[in-house]
Amino acid sequence: KTVAVLFGGQSSEHEVSCVSATTIIKNINTDLYRIIIIGITKGGKWIKVDSVDDIKSGDWIKGSVTAVISPDATQKAVLFLDGNKVSSEKIDAVFPALHGLYGEDGTVQGLLELAKIPYVGCGVVASGVSMDKLFTKIIVDTLGIRQAKYVPVMKKDLEQINQVVENIEQKLLYPVFIKPSNAGSSRGISKAFNRDDLIKGLHTAAQHDRKILVEETINGREVECAVLGGNEPKASGVGEIIAAADFYDYDAKYNNEASKTVLSPELPGNAAEIIRDYAVKIFKAVDGFGLSRVDFFVDKETGEVIFNEINTLPGFTSISMYPMLWEAKGIGKPQLIEKLLQLAFA
Ligand code: DAL
Ligand code: MG
Repeated sequence: KTVAVLFGGQSSEHEVSCVSATTIIKNINTDLYRIIIIGITKGGKWIKVDSVDDIKSGDWIKGSVTAVISPDATQKAVLFLDGNKVSSEKIDAVFPALHGLYGEDGTVQGLLELAKIPYVGCGVVASGVSMDKLFTKIIVDTLGIRQAKYVPVMKKDLEQINQVVENIEQKLLYPVFIKPSNAGSSRGISKAFNRDDLIKGLHTAAQHDRKILVEETINGREVECAVLGGNEPKASGVGEIIAAADFYDYDAKYNNEASKTVLSPELPGNAAEIIRDYAVKIFKAVDGFGLSRVDFFVDKETGEVIFNEINTLPGFTSISMYPMLWEAKGIGKPQLIEKLLQLAFA
């Protein structure tokens, strides 16, 4: 069988995707699969990549052959455009090793639905809903699972900034988090301790999305749970992120060595069981399929479990929790990737 791996992409998580894709490609069983690697530049150009080593070196970007997946369902193929020459190669599945917008959000999944090519991970709606923090909130509210209190703000509302600020201040106490509704890896997120910060943060978030979410601060430990499976998804154990920075932002996540992960942390009461139960419930509620990492807080005072977010294409870097949580359960990376591919074909 032939698998096409897509990586890079037009999102702010382009670089993370390059690292995730490298891990994924190196763990695909080459006795079972032929691999076609397609890199997508930040500008959205699709390039044929000859070797996984070109991802790390960054040389892939110089590739001169375009490689696109045709939406034509009768082809199920990658088309290579090399100057005037056109060739194609049939593919059996796609592994979208992409994070964030234009990859984790249902857009690429939509292309693959049109093409009738099986792919790893969640479908169009689950991807779209999970990438949109506001929609995720609405769905998780229906489960009665606790999450941070929030106020939605539209970019357009910022023209009446005083009204927006008053409304937020009536509902939430400082400090608050300001987040673009539809973005990945903490980009555009800020923490506001006062009105000045809030106004600045709202405008920053508005550069990333036209829908913004302002949330109460949860004084909690950050824990994550991996979900794997199709119609009967299973939860892994729980992992904890000990962030080096004030909150787990983009820099702390990927550039700060002091951030660390702890598997099976000591948690109060039956928090770990609750987290595993919630993770599966939330995965099912968004109509998840294949994989997701579901992130929670455990309140430092009350021990209460509070939902944070769901990532339908979690990172596969060396510091990423998703593969680590399954490794802890005895499912190594090659086996995990194989399970994910099997689910794509299911
Ligand atoms: N968004 C990053 C890749 C993660 O959730 O791991
Ligand atoms: Mg994310």
